[in-house]
Amino acid sequence: MKSITIIKVTIADLYELQRIGRETFQETFADSNSEENMKSYLEEGFSITKLTAELQNEDSEFYFARIDSEVVGYLKINFGESQTELRDSASLEIERIYVLKEFHGKSVGQLLYDKAVQAAWEKGYEYVWLGVWEENLRAIRFYEKNGFAAFDKHIFKLGDDQQTDIMMKLKLDQFPKSLSRLKLNFVIILLVCLRTILSWLIDNNVLISCSLKGIVKSGPGYLFCRVSFH
Ligand SMILES: CC(C)(COP(=O)(O)OP(=O)(O)OC[C@H]1O[C@@H](n2cnc3c(N)ncnc32)[C@H](O)[C@@H]1OP(=O)(O)O)[C@@H](O)C(=O)NCCC(=O)NCCS
Repeated sequence: MKSITIIKVTIADLYELQRIGRETFQETFADSNSEENMKSYLEEGFSITKLTAELQNEDSEFYFARIDSEVVGYLKINFGESQTELRDSASLEIERIYVLKEFHGKSVGQLLYDKAVQAAWEKGYEYVWLGVWEENLRAIRFYEKNGFAAFDKHIFKLGDDQQTDIMMKLKLDQFPKSLSRLKLNFVIILLVCLRTILSWLIDNNVLISCSLKGIVKSGPGYLFCRVSFH
């Protein structure tokens, strides 16, 4: 498998975004919706005007997943007022995560998802949430295996059809826990290293003497550390 890169989408990528947006939406939902509903959603939902406004919104970000120069999937995240619901200042929404069928099960979706969680973590949000169609079993399984749990339902309108989306969320407080485990491991390794160095110094009769020379009358203090070998 060639390497996958995740890059932030800019206004210069507008037409590429429209192409991948329409193609992946079509692939995902064409079989389960009327041609008419699909046509109007593809027209309006991915119009150049709408995508331009979304790209210029500072409370949203898009990312492409690329394999070589080919865009094979994309991600849209929202925070603050641009979230489609909740609009909690402590949350980030994954509004869209779409990968071309040919690349399902090949880590592309996972890397896009990781980018969303990384952004939430960096921006200090407490949880990530999303809405997923109740019949989209693959996506539901994907979110569940990443730790998401259902907390509500809402209605999504596709043309004249009303569909039920399951709302799922992931609390991010599990990350600090794993981070503190990491920190603890680091401290243990540091202590073991210190003990090894100290035993070596004692075994080799090396004397360390540190002296703090007082504050120079009109200036800052200096710390002198002198190591002498006997
Ligand atoms: C959602 C998406 C990004 C996930 O990426 P992916 O590469 O397909 O994800 P993975 O293969 O890692 O995980 C999918 C899981 O669903 C499982 N799965 C596949 N078909 C399934 C089905 N019909 N029912 C239940 N689970 C299913 C897979 O076995 C896998 O689980 P496992 O790793 O435990 O075996 C990708 O499928 C996608 O782009 N789908 C189309 C767009 C879409 O639906 N987006 C979500 C909108 S909310």
